[in-house]
Amino acid sequence: MSSKQARLLRSNYSMRLLVNRSPQEEQGTALRATRLSKDFKQADGSTTLVLDEATLEVCPGELVGLVGESGSGKTTLLNILGCIDSVSRGELEIGGVCVGNASSSRRRIIRRDRVGIVHQSFALLPTLTASENVMIPLHLQGKPRLEASLRVQSVLEQVDMLEKADMFPRHLSGGQLQRVAIARSIVHSPMVVLADEPTGNLDSRNSVAIMKLLRAIAETGCAIVCATHDQEVVSRCDRVLQTKTGASRATRFALG
Ligand SMILES: Nc1ncnc2c1ncn2[C@@H]1O[C@H](COP(=O)(O)OP(=O)(O)O)[C@@H](O)[C@H]1O
Ligand SMILES: [Mg+2]
Repeated sequence: MSSKQARLLRSNYSMRLLVNRSPQEEQGTALRATRLSKDFKQADGSTTLVLDEATLEVCPGELVGLVGESGSGKTTLLNILGCIDSVSRGELEIGGVCVGNASSSRRRIIRRDRVGIVHQSFALLPTLTASENVMIPLHLQGKPRLEASLRVQSVLEQVDMLEKADMFPRHLSGGQLQRVAIARSIVHSPMVVLADEPTGNLDSRNSVAIMKLLRAIAETGCAIVCATHDQEVVSRCDRVLQTKTGASRATRFALG
């Protein structure tokens, strides 16, 4: 295949990924959590309530901040929204699909197809190159090899990391690592991207660049929830959910 043909196929493929969603998915709520509670069992058999009836809705294209002091439950909430962890009580819908009491294998499929996750510490596999790391979600979906590698190239181009595609994480800077991690989070065109303090390990120049990238991703119709302490990040969100610690010491999230 000539490079021109490959470019054309790549751009057709990215367009198809962007318009692949049903009108209902595009117009509806991307993420709806209703009265989500989470308690953790402690070693002594007691339970600690961490989230107390957290309720939130995020629409396609929205970039929402999640702000609160350390230990207030931001990561716990993101893990539940991302189907990594189960809820103790409450309802959760991702793109109209009910996650609430889903089994762990059902949650794994919902996460694989509908959610992208960006970690503060990048969480790239050190023995894989940048492009191999970005390939992982497509590999999990069983996408054909050529289609997957064209999509990886397209996304690496989008985050301006195509030139470093064959480099290993140890040779990349913090900002570059986070770009690759973001590429991995969007390569399978998720409806929702959950970013846990994505600028926590970056200087301010790189933080601004990462937020511009997240904004560009939101503009493609993806809903983004971003836990942060960073005022620069907060100022770039459409709205902010602030933790509210009640008498029970558990956290609720209130619209800011
Ligand atoms: N798997 C777990 N088992 C028990 N307690 C947990 C677990 N995960 C988190 N916690 C507790 O939940 C609280 C909220 O933690 P976390 O969600 O990491 O807060 P944040 O991200 O806002 O700093 C903390 O008190 C933490 O110790
Ligand atoms: Mg956290």
